[in-house]
Amino acid sequence: MTRLRKVVFPVAGMGTRFLPATKVVAKEMLPVLDRPLIQYAVDEAVDAGADTLIFVTNRYKHSIADYFDSAYELEETLERAGKRELLAMVQGLLPPHVRCVYVTQEQALGLGHAVLCAKPVVGDEPFGIVLPDDLIVNEGPGALRQMAERAADGKTGVLAVEEVPHADTGKYGIVDIDGGGDRIRHMVEKPKPEDAPSNLAVVGRYVLPSRIFDLLEQTTPGAGGEIQLTDAIAALLKETPVLAHRFAGTRFDCGNKAGMVRATLHFASADPELRHLVAGLEGG
Ligand code: G1P
Repeated sequence: MTRLRKVVFPVAGMGTRFLPATKVVAKEMLPVLDRPLIQYAVDEAVDAGADTLIFVTNRYKHSIADYFDSAYELEETLERAGKRELLAMVQGLLPPHVRCVYVTQEQALGLGHAVLCAKPVVGDEPFGIVLPDDLIVNEGPGALRQMAERAADGKTGVLAVEEVPHADTGKYGIVDIDGGGDRIRHMVEKPKPEDAPSNLAVVGRYVLPSRIFDLLEQTTPGAGGEIQLTDAIAALLKETPVLAHRFAGTRFDCGNKAGMVRATLHFASADPELRHLVAGLEGG
């Protein structure tokens, strides 16, 4: 298994689908029940072996750094009040061996550009990318861990994929795979349904070799006028195997309200105190 020491979280997006809340609250800090979206993403990275979390952020997203920082006054107050469980919770957001690094994306030039901003921190080793909007729940190993296990040699790329309705291909990077196998032949960003090579969509998890940075440096603006990660991966797969991984787990697209509500209901139905509310909704 490739040890994924470093995982990149592109979190510089504006979150316009959740305005007005996202006027002041970072999209990644919106809660699913009582945990912000970014916590689910980070837990998955730590589960995959990460010890260095790289957030590609901007001046409006300081709350993410504040969230992972220690909160001295809060901790003191909880300690004095003997609220041990709450204290352990706020102190245990990350295991002690994990550190956070924040890199600024000064201009919103696209996902590929955001990932390229992490180059000086990642250096020359394979790394993971997690898009926190895609919340993936799995009872066993997390999606990123499953993918790291498949990227055995450190050169192979692995992308998480899922079938989506044909009408939705324009929202995703779409892959064309070898008949019967899982090696990706080609990949296009947000094709119209009539141009899409399949309905197999990349969801927000990637394991990539550091070679992707050279390719990103050569990538010119593509779909939507943005520097697309998809276009750099399309170049990578001409040189090295890139696999499509059909992950075990359930994905909630928390980049939109319906997905956020579904994710909330999912976690509420597993909570002894809230379960009856969900059952009531289903009954009604
Ligand atoms: C990005 C990628 C796209 C991928 C999607 C997964 O798009 O560009 O290839 O399928 O994430 O969530 P975005 O959702 O940022 O527009």
